[in-house]
Amino acid sequence: MPENPQPTAADSGAGAPDDVARVEAVMAEPVSRGEPILSVRNLVKHFPLTQGIVFRRQVGAVRAVDGVSFDLHQGETLGIVGESGCGKSTVAKLLMNLERPTAGEVLYKGEDITRLSGRALKAVRRNIQMVFQDPYTSLNPRMTVGDIIGEPFDIHPDVAPRGDRRRKVQELLDVVGLNPEYINRYPHQFSGGQRQRIGIARGLALNPEIIICDEPVSALDVSVQAQVINLMEKLQDEFNLSYMFIAHDLSVVRHISDRVAVMYLGKVVEVGTDQEIYEHPTHPYTQALLSAVPVPDPSGRDQRERIVLTGDVPSPANPPSGCRFRTRCWKAEERCAAEIPLLAVPERFKDSDTPAAHESACHFAEEKDVVHA
Ligand SMILES: Nc1ncnc2c1ncn2[C@@H]1O[C@H](COP(=O)(O)OP(=O)(O)OP(=O)(O)O)[C@@H](O)[C@H]1O
Ligand code: SF4
Ligand SMILES: [Mg+2]
Repeated sequence: MPENPQPTAADSGAGAPDDVARVEAVMAEPVSRGEPILSVRNLVKHFPLTQGIVFRRQVGAVRAVDGVSFDLHQGETLGIVGESGCGKSTVAKLLMNLERPTAGEVLYKGEDITRLSGRALKAVRRNIQMVFQDPYTSLNPRMTVGDIIGEPFDIHPDVAPRGDRRRKVQELLDVVGLNPEYINRYPHQFSGGQRQRIGIARGLALNPEIIICDEPVSALDVSVQAQVINLMEKLQDEFNLSYMFIAHDLSVVRHISDRVAVMYLGKVVEVGTDQEIYEHPTHPYTQALLSAVPVPDPSGRDQRERIVLTGDVPSPANPPSGCRFRTRCWKAEERCAAEIPLLAVPERFKDSDTPAAHESACHFAEEKDVVHA
């Protein structure tokens, strides 16, 4: 997938003039720290499953994202964790408008961006950028670093007029800790960590408000991961950025996130602050994920229970009825097959000020002493 994608055919129209004017006004509105800048409401993405070569007919659908809601607040980092195939990257693509949702809304400062096209969509895209996982394949090997970082200016020339581009790119190299004199070098002349810095510099080129990071450090060595994460934290403060940070490594997510959403088979099953999720998880899936993370315990006295999840993740084309986690859950009862658990603060914790009082989609949500990251 290309980074900072060019507008697609669907975007090539001018967009309704009313939309453009409204979106530009919306973009100029400041959002106070801690207020939602992006709100996702009942987002659904089903990919059709088809059969037949001449007469293609739909025989089902992969329910990659199936009713996901969350807020991203101004200036925060929202971590998204979950096993491979649970729909994390699809959510990211929906937020970037690289995929059109089957249903649901993505509200950017209250404006549903899934309905925009043409210039209005282009204006919004400037403010929501993406950093990808693989710094080896996401950079075009035949382009110089200067051209790679400056490419977004081709689509938004107003941000850096032609005569000013070189200086802008060199500034961006400096901001991400690379020597501005490297501007004419090619990607293969950089290490993995340096390439990810180049990807981040390109993500920053248009002064976005939101950066969606899809596994940005997963391909890097652990020591380099820490440097890139530290850089991202520094840039967040400097440029008042809001991050959505997707990763499967729970320790990395905890390190950078203010809040964390846990996904399972196309749904968010638990969401809360990093302390609520890591110290007081109430959903059995989160408890199992955390219990699988090894924790150094030189004393050898750690007696907490480790939960071993058995069975494979069911197919998103044919998810279990009721609670999707029930085929792997040690607490499953009849009710779990019949009734879909809603993502809400569990009734039993509602009037208490315990950290367990956060949203969890389980009929029998309760705390469990697990080994945590
Ligand atoms: N274009 C597509 N057509 C059909 N199915 C798709 C498409 N893109 C994703 N899927 C399916 O949707 C589900 C969710 O995929 P997604 O890439 O969002 O998962 P993920 O959580 O990012 O996984 P990973 O951790 O491996 O990156 C998977 O079952 C995947 O096979
Ligand atoms: S609703 Fe039932 S199956 Fe689902 S997580 Fe809770 S106990 Fe397990
Ligand atoms: Mg992914």
